[in-house]
Amino acid sequence: MKILMVSSEAVPFAKTGGLADAVSSLSIALAKQGHEVRVVIPRYYSIDRGKLKPLPGAMGVPVGGGEEWSAVYTTSLPGSPKKNDVPIYLIDHEIFFGRDGIYGIPSEPDFLDNPKRFAFFCRAVFQLCRKIDWYPDILHAHDWPSALVPVYLKHQERHKNNAERSGEFSKTASVLTVHNLGYQGIYSKENFWYLGLGWDVFYNAGFDDWNMMNLLKAGLYSADKINTVSPNYAEETKNQTNGFRLDGVLRYRSADYTGILNGIDTDVWNPAKDPLIPQKFSAKDISGKAKVKEALQREFNLPPEAGTPVIGMVTRLTGQKGVGELFGPGYGSIWSICRDMNVQLVLIGTGESWCENEIMNLSSRLSNFKARIGYSEEISHLIEAGSDFFLMPSRYEPCGLNQMYSLTYGTPPIVRNTGGLRDTVENFNQETGTGTGFMFDDLTPQAIYDTCGWAVWAYYNKRDQIEAMRLRGMKQDFSWENSANKYTELYNASLGT
Ligand code: ADP
Ligand code: GLC
Repeated sequence: MKILMVSSEAVPFAKTGGLADAVSSLSIALAKQGHEVRVVIPRYYSIDRGKLKPLPGAMGVPVGGGEEWSAVYTTSLPGSPKKNDVPIYLIDHEIFFGRDGIYGIPSEPDFLDNPKRFAFFCRAVFQLCRKIDWYPDILHAHDWPSALVPVYLKHQERHKNNAERSGEFSKTASVLTVHNLGYQGIYSKENFWYLGLGWDVFYNAGFDDWNMMNLLKAGLYSADKINTVSPNYAEETKNQTNGFRLDGVLRYRSADYTGILNGIDTDVWNPAKDPLIPQKFSAKDISGKAKVKEALQREFNLPPEAGTPVIGMVTRLTGQKGVGELFGPGYGSIWSICRDMNVQLVLIGTGESWCENEIMNLSSRLSNFKARIGYSEEISHLIEAGSDFFLMPSRYEPCGLNQMYSLTYGTPPIVRNTGGLRDTVENFNQETGTGTGFMFDDLTPQAIYDTCGWAVWAYYNKRDQIEAMRLRGMKQDFSWENSANKYTELYNASLGT
């Protein structure tokens, strides 16, 4: 099959979270299975044009009231199989993308012109196909920034030029993957004219959202098939508690809505060959993990005590990740965990400024809590590999990659029983010694405190069970192969609709 992945993020070019990992590694997994896969993202300012190849000629993109001109660059997606290259195309537009930030910057987290930027990008996708004279069987869009792709396909491109050119996209099907229902692209409908669609489409395609324009909602109505990134999150989002007001739409589309668990890139996340950790290890010989733990403690200026459990965190600092319950001034659980337990806690993260400030404040007052505000692949690998436990108390979690990384590195996760965390972690049972991590149900500071306490207690008192738990986690298979097969089935089903 010919598949075009449309995304606002793809590693190693642009990343704010797991979406970027998922898009690139799924593309590569599908290429390994023999599909013809290509990827398209915007050429953000931070992506060096010098390392890309320009396609000859400018590309016109029709938008409301006129045409925008852009350039297209290309290169090969790193990690592509040798015999089946995955080209990535980068849409270059100085005004829309020639600035810092993917969706925004700290002083303007959601750029005012985002509806225009991403409408332009989605329309550019169809022009790109014309430019390179390559028409996919599947247009696979991800999250709200690409959600207009299925809308344009259904309401415009699929029928367009049927008479003259038999419609370049008449046989193309669309799939929309929701990586996070919390972000929907809701903007004033005064932006709608720019999309170049009629007002009939505004209502028919489901853009209308209490008199605003909701891009994800229109995408969910328009795509041939929709899915999210774990089976459990697919179920959870069909009810009001976790549906972010779109549960009705998801129930309406439930015959076409499934959950497919993400995989992880086992070339990048593999303790047996990870170049970013000082000592390799594996389930066969885990002894090297102790060296990594020591390096982690030294990196964070903690006493390198082999016998003290280290709890690690790598996270975006937003409400989704439970940061209120961890760091909320006066009630967050980190303070009491570090005060009451013989434990060390390390963290790397960026996000909401109140939270960054509170973390710096706590780390100056607690000798066993060390944090880095920032983004670093190197430190994140060191934390995943060197910690004894990995803490991820998410409010909601569509899939979550970090807990799968930590399982792979023999670092049992401490997680909330929600979304993809529930699909990937099995709770510890101290009677039978089974399980791969520690889970709790309610998101409260007390529950986080109790569950960390349980893990720390088990570390000191049930050490054999913890060591066995590490190995069980490491032996699980989170590679993309299974999931790529499921996407192939979804593509086949979408072509049948
Ligand atoms: P989400 O996409 O919701 O943030 P995931 O667990 O799916 O959650 O993916 C997060 C990804 O971002 C992982 O690859 C994780 O390692 C990475 N990440 C998040 N914050 C940082 C950071 N501060 N430094 C390095 N990597 C980070
Ligand atoms: C989103 C979700 C996360 C998921 C990732 C990749 O960022 O928050 O749970 O793992 O997308 O699909």
